[in-house]
Amino acid sequence: MEAGLDVARVRGLFPALADGFVHADGPAGGLLPESVARAVGHAMRIPVAPRGGIFPASGRAEAIVSAARAAVADLVGGLPGGVVLGPSLTALTWQMARALARTWGPGDEIVVSRLDHDANIRPWVQMAEESGALVRWAEVDIETGELPAWQYDELLGDRTRLVALPAASGVIGSCPDVAAIAARAHAVGALVYVDGAQLAPHRFVDRFALGADLLAVSARKWCGPNLGAVIAEPELLGELWPDKLLPALDRVPDRFESSLPIELLAGVPAAVEHLASLCPYAEGSRRERLHVAMASVEAYERPLFEWLDEALRSMRHVQVLGCPDRPVPTLSFTVSHMRPRQVTSELSRRGVCAWDGDGYARELFDALGASEEGGAVQLGLLHYNTAEEVGYVIDAVAALRLY
Ligand SMILES: Cc1ncc(COP(=O)(O)O)c(C=O)c1O
Repeated sequence: MEAGLDVARVRGLFPALADGFVHADGPAGGLLPESVARAVGHAMRIPVAPRGGIFPASGRAEAIVSAARAAVADLVGGLPGGVVLGPSLTALTWQMARALARTWGPGDEIVVSRLDHDANIRPWVQMAEESGALVRWAEVDIETGELPAWQYDELLGDRTRLVALPAASGVIGSCPDVAAIAARAHAVGALVYVDGAQLAPHRFVDRFALGADLLAVSARKWCGPNLGAVIAEPELLGELWPDKLLPALDRVPDRFESSLPIELLAGVPAAVEHLASLCPYAEGSRRERLHVAMASVEAYERPLFEWLDEALRSMRHVQVLGCPDRPVPTLSFTVSHMRPRQVTSELSRRGVCAWDGDGYARELFDALGASEEGGAVQLGLLHYNTAEEVGYVIDAVAALRLY
């Protein structure tokens, strides 16, 4: 057992790990524990009808949606009534961008960052273009891969309506000082939209401490089903009018949601409970247990990642992009004389799952000059990865110098 997290026990919860591969592809999506698969399967086996009916099967759907809202609220901090559910973080961000942009016009400004996944860039840029608002860009320090907070002093003004930024990068792991940036944004009256997709699997998330008016997450990243959620104060959601069908509910948060994938939503409380139970000795409410469990996840993942990061940086044929301070356990690298796809196919041949490309962080890769030649290779750790696997991956990358 290491720092409260018993990885052997944890691995036993994941039937998918039986394929024998090293799953270092967590940033794109984690594997599902049996409890999540079972919860989804159960919802498919029992009578569940669409919401809104007076009969029990419809009531069951309502209960599944309420439980999913409560679980997400516990995961990141907030009220269940402020949790909007949907098919993906990307789809919900388009929905929020369309709703918010209805209040923008010429002369207004928004600030997006080059550190983000495109899901937290393109919806804002496109909606700004349609409304006549000006887009300002927060730049990444190309040496470190960090998003410096000081630049927001220049970027923000009394016409700034929205600041969109990530809590963590899914390709180079850097974690901006969201709270400092949000404080600057709030000082000029702007709203802050934070992509928390890559923070939630690795750290205890406190939406209030981050200063996120709207916080987006993607359940697959924390071993849940392929779904997204956006969390905000119900009062803020009440001021926004999204695209919706006329007969669909007008109330908050339902009015942001089109017909929900109920069976998949049944997996959301199971995934949050999986995280909350990672430290079996933690006591108290689910949120309190999450606090302890995510601290043990962080304490477990950090030394493994530091070992991986340092080992790769010491290899003469490997170039790791950026060198952020206290990143989430995710990095991108290139190998001399090999295209990223060649590297990932070699790794796959040796039983390691890893992504190549830009991980949809196209602006970041362009800024780093890494978009050519197929981007880079991404490796990321989750709480089910072991020291043995990290050693194996290091050896597999070291062996590539012979190519
Ligand atoms: C940082 C980040 N934001 C957004 C997304 C997109 O999430 P979804 O697949 O739920 O749209 C991803 C997926 O990789 C991501 O890593």
